[in-house]
Amino acid sequence: MSGYLIAFEGGEGSGKSTQARRLADRLGGRALFTFEPGDSALGAQLRQLLLDTEALAISDRAESLLMAADRAQHVVEVIRPAMAAGRTVITDRYAGSSVAYQGYGRQLPPGEVERLSRWAADGLWPDLVFLLEVTPSVAEQRLVRAKDRVESAGAAFHQRVHDGFLRQAIEDPDRWAIIDGTQDEDRVAEQIWQVISIRFPDLV
Ligand code: TYD
Repeated sequence: MSGYLIAFEGGEGSGKSTQARRLADRLGGRALFTFEPGDSALGAQLRQLLLDTEALAISDRAESLLMAADRAQHVVEVIRPAMAAGRTVITDRYAGSSVAYQGYGRQLPPGEVERLSRWAADGLWPDLVFLLEVTPSVAEQRLVRAKDRVESAGAAFHQRVHDGFLRQAIEDPDRWAIIDGTQDEDRVAEQIWQVISIRFPDLV
């Protein structure tokens, strides 16, 4: 039987990476932790172009296409093979990030960005998406490391990204679970586990 695809979404400083890893650890060998952008050979190079190279001009549409290219390779090289082997794939960011950042954030039509992502992913959509919800001001306080190229956009951009995530979650409540990311780490992990036990009893 094919494994599930579970995505973690949210802004920087929402704790989603920590929680994605914790869930993968709890599931042990039955799960694979992965992330976007960057978790394939091509993806690692795209990630560098997208996030590290501050001097490089990248238009909003070019950024969307590079994120989509990363997703296309990620699906073929990492996600599909693991799912076909029956493993649950837990990805730190997926299409929801493109809709939030390139759609709502960069102000390209979110529906078009979503379609581009579906095409890139050859239709592979997550079975469940966790949104770790933290307001932009709390996220800003939590963020101690240097900002990448996308993060360096201003406060209005981050507010739009935040609202874009929430909208996606509200519009597709069967797929998305909103978790209050301001709670302490163990409590967030427990709530995530509760959702897993309800949606996928075969995993617990
Ligand atoms: P990530 O490596 O998850 O770092 P963090 O969550 O700690 O910021 O994300 C890297 C950046 O890539 C982040 O600023 C969001 C951005 N991003 C997009 O703009 N669109 C996308 O489709 C994805 C996957 C990421």
